[in-house]
Parts: sequence; structure tokens; C-alpha cells
Amino acid sequence: MKAPLFLAAAALAGPAYAATPAEWRSKIVYQVITDRFARADNSTTAACNASDRQYCGGSYRGIINRLDYIQNMGFTAVWISPITYNLEGDTGDGTAYHGYWQQDLYRLNENFGTAEDLKALSTAIHDRGMYLMVDIVVNHNAWPGDYTTVDYSKFNPFNSQGDYHSYCEITNYDDQENVEDCWLGSSNVELVDLNTDSSAVISGYNSWITDLVSNYSIDGLRIDTVKHVDKAFWPDFNAAAGVFCTGEIFDGDPAYTCPYQDYLDSVLNYPIYYSLIRAFTSPSGSISDLASMINTVKSTCKDSTLLGTFAENHDVTRFASLTSDLSQARNVLAFVLLHDGIPIVFQGQEQHYAGTGDPDNRAALWLSGYDASAPLARLAASVNQIRNHALYVDAAYLTYKNYPIYSDANTLALRKGFDGAQVVAVLSNRGESGAAYTLNLGSTGWSSGDLVVEVLTCATLTTASDGSVPVPMESGLPRVLYPRDKLSGSGICGL
Ligand SMILES: *[C@@H]1O[C@H](CO)[C@@H](O)[C@H](O)[C@H]1NC(C)=O
Ligand SMILES: *[C@@H]1O[C@H](CO)[C@@H](O)[C@H](O)[C@H]1NC(C)=O
Ligand SMILES: *[C@@H]1O[C@H](CO)[C@@H](O)[C@H](O)[C@H]1NC(C)=O
Repeated sequence: MKAPLFLAAAALAGPAYAATPAEWRSKIVYQVITDRFARADNSTTAACNASDRQYCGGSYRGIINRLDYIQNMGFTAVWISPITYNLEGDTGDGTAYHGYWQQDLYRLNENFGTAEDLKALSTAIHDRGMYLMVDIVVNHNAWPGDYTTVDYSKFNPFNSQGDYHSYCEITNYDDQENVEDCWLGSSNVELVDLNTDSSAVISGYNSWITDLVSNYSIDGLRIDTVKHVDKAFWPDFNAAAGVFCTGEIFDGDPAYTCPYQDYLDSVLNYPIYYSLIRAFTSPSGSISDLASMINTVKSTCKDSTLLGTFAENHDVTRFASLTSDLSQARNVLAFVLLHDGIPIVFQGQEQHYAGTGDPDNRAALWLSGYDASAPLARLAASVNQIRNHALYVDAAYLTYKNYPIYSDANTLALRKGFDGAQVVAVLSNRGESGAAYTLNLGSTGWSSGDLVVEVLTCATLTTASDGSVPVPMESGLPRVLYPRDKLSGSGICGL
């Protein structure tokens, strides 16, 4: 295999830490659940029953040993679970193996390793020219018991009741004050809600995040439960972090979710997520809703090219639990990797893992044997390679806003990139039993007689006199087109 050109570009980019939104735009993120990705003993057989919600032994050292698996698929950033100290022991809702039950901001969750291990992971990621994204929680601390039993002195640094909102349960998601000031959780584990209006809490969080980013050379943050914190909290926190921040606003309505991008660099693209899943789960899924959502997000969010695009994560049902059809899964994966913004693939998506939501979507990845030849792992590698190449050929690929150039009941074609260096993705929801036919695709920006490579099959296509491309469709498979003359030296399709 020829050396991928994008590595040369990464090497010139200088120190990886303290990365800006513009630098993150070029990245492709692989999301790891630290406890479930890799063990330091390199085991591929260690038992892990996700339904049990217990620690399974994954660690920072384990991730270091398996970075080849992630990097060989073309990913250029790794998102890990929250690193801070969590409540210990078992509860009626299981253990804190996921890392979201924080109690002490200034201690680490040593189930995942020591500070030295975490620094070694950060260094190992940077040595490969990749970025480290760390998940963090600021909305709450966790208490193993009901609200009447909380011992505030056990939290650090916010250890008095006055640092928190008084107890009330979130009962009305249409009432933003209720969402921000009341508590998440259950009587097994209460999520004790910080008063993020308090100046002591604000300054405590801001100085903590400055230190945390610096101590572990963190390049970017994924922030949990952002919609449960008042918007005014975020701009100063984002500035104190000094790195790219993307926030979880768990809501599919762009009118609700997009405004958070006025307060944080980026948000996870839940509006696209819901439309994407609905469009590709079956041949009757609505392609037109997805096409229209693409345009709505572009016009509603401040900058759609900085949003985090995903089809799976640790909170939602895995795609393979909605349909076992591998072609539909391929289309969803290709969409994630080629849409505007920063693609995020959740560990196991590339192994076609199933699992209906938390906790069953969190199966240990080691049980797959890290099979780089699995169909979706190979697809991720091919599509990541063309994305990494396209931005190397023309960095403006990243800020060009993807748009639908063609759609019918089962097909969506998207263009991203300026003339001569555009990537055109042709996606289908027909599934594995989809018939073979030729789609004569116009509006691609190519002219008569241009040579275009379909990079997943390496077929070279010649545009017709009206510039349209005869795209061979078959078995509901995705197609990805790129100009042939721009591939020379890339190693893609032997060119
Ligand atoms: C996994 O854990 C669940 C919940 O504790 C249990 O019902 C199930 O039998 C376990 N599965 C195996 C294979 O042990
Ligand atoms: C685990 O894998 C790493 C990286 O390949 C290797 O250096 C290490 O020796 C292995 N450890 C064990 C216990 O097999
Ligand atoms: C960062 O490291 C310094 C020096 O070891 C330590 O005092 C501080 O508590 C650390 N802060 C965080 C948030 O880890």
C-alpha cells in the first residue's frame, strides 16, 4: 500500500494539543467506551455481559495496544469515556463502568488506569498525528441512593449543598427551566444537579477544565447533558477549555438543538441522526425527509461543517437492531463519513454490532477479535481514505456544504466539494435484495467525457455528453464518486 498522502499533511500541522474547531473539521472520530474497547492483557475472550452493567476491564493501556486497529481504518481522532473519579460499587442501576457518574473532578477513575497511563495514551495518540477527545460531565455529580440521602461532603470540589439546585425531578421537557434546574437520575442513582448560575460553581468549573486539558494534553471535549445546563454557562467554559467543544443536546428538532451552537463550538447532530436512521432502516424510509433535514440544519445551525455526525452512540439503539440488512448499514456508515461536519463512528458499528440501547449497545469490542476484514470495517477504511484524500487535495472540501443533488423514493445523491474535487455519494435504502440498474445522475458538476472513479468498486465511469454519470447500482450498495485525475498518487484503486 502506498503511504497515504494525508499523513504528510498531518505531520505538518504541528503540535496536536489545544486543537481549534478549524483543525477538528478535518478529523474523523472513533468513539470508544474505555471499559469496553480493549484490555491491557490484549484478551479477545474475556467475558463481558453488557446487560450486567459491570466493569469488564478495558483500560487506557488496552487502547494504546489497539490504536493500530483504529488508525488502520483511517480514523484520525479517538473519543474516550469520562476520566474522572466516579461512585464506587454496585447500585440498582449497575456500576459506573461508563464513567458518567462523577464524584470528584480532581481524581481519576482508576478502573481505567493511572494518570501515567492516561498521559501515555495521550502521547501515543499524538505520536500518530491523531487527536484525543475526552468526554466530560458538568451538569451533575452522582449519588448512589435517593435524594434524601445525598452526602454533599463526598463531592469534590463542589462539596456543599449550596453548590446544587434543590431536589426536583425533571417532569416536563417543554419547560426549559425544569430541564435545567431539576435532577436527572433515579432513586438508585441520583444525578445531583449543579447550580451553574452560581459564580463559585462557574469559576470552579472554568479553572478545572483549563487544568484538565493541560494536564492530559486533551485536543477536544465531548460534553454530556448540555441541554440541562443554562446556555449562558457555556461560552466562558468553552473559552476556558481552550479546545474544540462539541455538546450533547439530545433532541432531534433543529430549532431546539442548533441555537446551542451559538454558545459552544459544536453540537452533536441529533436532528440528522433521527432522519438518517428513519431513511435507511427500510425501503419505505423517507429519503425526502432526510434531504430536507440536511438543508434545514444548514440554514438553522451556525456552522453545519462543525457538527458531529453519527448514526450510533452509547445512548441509542444500534442500527443493526433496527434492521439486519448489511447494505442499509453500509449506506448509513457512508453517509456519516461523507456528510458535513466531523464524522463519529461508535465502537462496534464497524463490526455490525446489535444492541437495543443502554446497556446492550455497549458490548465489549474485544469479543469481535478486532476483525479488520469485517465488511463495515473495510467500508469505513475505504470511505475514510477518500475523505482524507479529498481534504488533502482541496481543504475547502471541509467547508463546502453538502447538498442533495438527486433524490427519489429510495435514493439520495449528495455532493460535497468544489468543481473538479467533489465527492458525490449515491446512497440507497433498497437493501441487499435491491435490483441492479443504472442511475443516470446529473447535477454532479462534471462535464462531458470526464472520467470518474466509483471508489468502492474501482470502476471508472465516463460522463455522458450532458455531463451525467451512469452509476451502476446493485444490491442496495452505496456508491462514492471522485474525479479520476485527482486520484493519481493516492493509492486509491491502484492509482
Ligand atoms: C447477562 O446478564 C443478564 C442480566 O444480569 C442475565 O439475565 C443474563 O442471563 C446474562 N447472560 C449471560 C450469557 O450470562
Ligand atoms: C499486547 O499488545 C501489545 C501491542 O501489540 C504488545 O506490545 C504487548 O506485549 C501485548 N501484551 C500482552 C500481555 O500480550
Ligand atoms: C493538574 O495537575 C496539577 C499538578 O499535578 C494538579 O495539582 C491539578 O490538581 C491537576 N488538575 C486536574 C484537573 O487534573
